Amino acid sequence: MVARVIPVSTFDLVIFGATGDLARRKILPGLFLRFKSGQMPEGARIIGSARSNFDSAEFRKVIGAALTEFLDEEHRPADMLTAFLDRLEYVHIDATGDTGWDTLKGILRDDVIRTFYLSVSPSLFGAIAERLSTHGVATPESRIVVEKPFGHDLASAQALNTDLLRHFSEHQIYRIDHYLGKETVQNLMALRFANSLFEPLWNSTHIDHVQITVAESLGVGGRGGYYDQSGAMRDMVQNHLMQLLCLTAMEPPSKFASNSVRDEKVKVIEALDPVKSEDVVRGQYRAGRDAPSYFEDVENDDSRTESFIAMKLKIANWRWAGTPFYLRTGKRLRDRVSEITVVFRDPPHMIFPNPMEGRKGNALIIRLQPDEGITLRTTIKEPGPGGMRLTEVDMDMTFANALGSDLHTQDAYERLIMDVIRGDQTLFMRGDEVEAAWSWADPLIANWQESGKRPVPYDVGSSGPEEALMLLHRDGRRWRPIGA
Ligand code: BG6
Repeated sequence: MVARVIPVSTFDLVIFGATGDLARRKILPGLFLRFKSGQMPEGARIIGSARSNFDSAEFRKVIGAALTEFLDEEHRPADMLTAFLDRLEYVHIDATGDTGWDTLKGILRDDVIRTFYLSVSPSLFGAIAERLSTHGVATPESRIVVEKPFGHDLASAQALNTDLLRHFSEHQIYRIDHYLGKETVQNLMALRFANSLFEPLWNSTHIDHVQITVAESLGVGGRGGYYDQSGAMRDMVQNHLMQLLCLTAMEPPSKFASNSVRDEKVKVIEALDPVKSEDVVRGQYRAGRDAPSYFEDVENDDSRTESFIAMKLKIANWRWAGTPFYLRTGKRLRDRVSEITVVFRDPPHMIFPNPMEGRKGNALIIRLQPDEGITLRTTIKEPGPGGMRLTEVDMDMTFANALGSDLHTQDAYERLIMDVIRGDQTLFMRGDEVEAAWSWADPLIANWQESGKRPVPYDVGSSGPEEALMLLHRDGRRWRPIGA
């Protein structure tokens, strides 16, 4: 199946932090792939800006090297690469001073959409937003894109929102959570709201519980300084897992439009019950399999930051009362797997005399990565003689098989940047949504900080600490194995 390319209007995209890791790894490769697909109109320009005193030729060289490093050879034909690099310009700007702003203003065009992508530390959001405004660089139609982390608690997130809203309106602000740009995360909405099959069952009458797992096999190496200040709760749960929870649990919005979808997501976060401390397990990986320990990775022997977290959440509303949601995420686990497992209740009455031993029950497994697809676990008769014996089978569908193996699933950044240009905020977080997520996370974090409790150790390549398995065992449930 060939992806359809919907043209966007021409634009001037200014990337602050244009030589940083995210820009080189994700933003510019994403833009290149959109260029290659023909989506970037004639005349669209990308203007890089950073602290280095480069000229445009030097900037093109840096980005050319990044595209060569981060894209497979088959995806970057030389002629396309040259044509794309020709679209790049560079302006040296001092984010906290006055250098460069007037030059930038001079080269931006009046009749095209101006987008400012802040791929910089959040501590610079306010300074850049202010200068964009006071130097007359931003117009009322301009868009501003900011990256995570959007604050490290409610107060800092509110401060960032205040700084941005002083110079931009909410409809101009695009807060990225790259999980929302993942193809299968959007598919979750298609699955729920474009089919009549699931929605009647999508409630506590029929669903026993839901598991959301985002497991990573890599450690925190290279980002130790940032990570040790964050931990799995701030780095993953408050944003990515919270978004997955919202999309799984929200009411059907009246239309697929930014505020309708985001209104429903906020309601889910607001309905979360406070989490009891006995319903949270925090872990830290120890050294093993030739990999360093968490302490070594963050260079802090006394760190109490978690590299793994599992928790049980309750959503206090009519749809979900009585159906817990179990979340788990961590580094250096057995495999890199993100999936949502919806486990259905058993039939109210079993007519078969020999109930299957070890029966797990019906489940819908939505695989976000890798092997994007869905699996439906069903109970059938075991074939052959021997009476009516039951067994469970998986009805398995990977999107690549179903839609063609040459299916090009866009990287999240490709999709999200084009949505900004189109002016579609559906897959971006609204200010109140981010604040609601911090309001929920803050007391939990404060709780373990006050207690001074250390995370429990777990082995590299495992499913996390034993205690996380117990979190479900004590409720008579089991996690779906990581990498099943
Ligand atoms: C980032 C986190 O937001 O998401 C990282 O800061 C994490 O710690 C990454 O590794 C996971 O993203 P993905 O797309 O690889 O699942």
